[in-house]
Amino acid sequence: MAAEPAERQSEQALLSVDGISSGYGSARILQNLSFAVERHEILAIVGRNGVGKTTLMKTLIGLLRLMDGTIEFKGESIGRFRPSRRAHRGIAYVPQGRGIFNRMSVTENLVLGQGLGGIGRKADFDRVYRFFPRLKERGSQKAGSMSGGEQQQLAIGRVLVGQPELILLDEPSEGIQPNIVQEIGQIIRRLTEQEDLTVIIVEQNLELIHSVADRCMVMDKGTIIAHLTPDEIADEEVAKRYLAIA
Ligand SMILES: Nc1ncnc2c1ncn2[C@@H]1O[C@H](COP(=O)(O)OP(=O)(O)O)[C@@H](O)[C@H]1O
Ligand SMILES: [Mg+2]
Repeated sequence: MAAEPAERQSEQALLSVDGISSGYGSARILQNLSFAVERHEILAIVGRNGVGKTTLMKTLIGLLRLMDGTIEFKGESIGRFRPSRRAHRGIAYVPQGRGIFNRMSVTENLVLGQGLGGIGRKADFDRVYRFFPRLKERGSQKAGSMSGGEQQQLAIGRVLVGQPELILLDEPSEGIQPNIVQEIGQIIRRLTEQEDLTVIIVEQNLELIHSVADRCMVMDKGTIIAHLTPDEIADEEVAKRYLAIA
């Protein structure tokens, strides 16, 4: 592909998703879904259970095959790349339920993260400890014995080791005490402000979205049905309309 002029490159979205469909077997869950994310943004995705939020995350990282449409990351078409190649380009995924290794120590989990989200640069553990000092203090502790909030810090810290440019977070507040949720929100904000990082966060916790997100998209039936500001999402009437939350 011919190189684009530098000017166009700088205006380009970090990630552009255009008309994608994907699903399981012959079942199409995502239907003609499009959106874009700019560098350093925190984009929230909300929607009722079962509308396809996790399916979208898995499709972006390459765990599910694209049936239709295109995914561009940093100007490169990655929609047919294997997950490892997408990780190498700088996309990291923190799955719903966190996916850490409970029986291994915190440090061992971090070391494994090098291979998970790594994009070939030197692993930077100091950087992870700067954002998550508790992971250094708890280095030798078994990951499964930590609190939900600490485990979530580990799950995020683990992908951070590989220096990704885009982190996909799937319901980070799930199973975490409310006061800790806000602490994690603040760390996510600091990451995008101080590092070359962009975040897509799938969340049900509207307070967390309100405090961290720059922008919010609502999903229903496998597609994006509305774009909202964080203030709108905090509005009870709006939340009721789009999320059927009382
Ligand atoms: N492994 C799977 N096999 C078949 N269908 C699935 C699988 N995972 C999810 N689904 C279906 O895909 C739809 C979207 O699921 P999901 O993306 O997990 O929703 P959300 O994350 O928004 O709650 C649901 O109807 C769900 O039943
Ligand atoms: Mg989900």
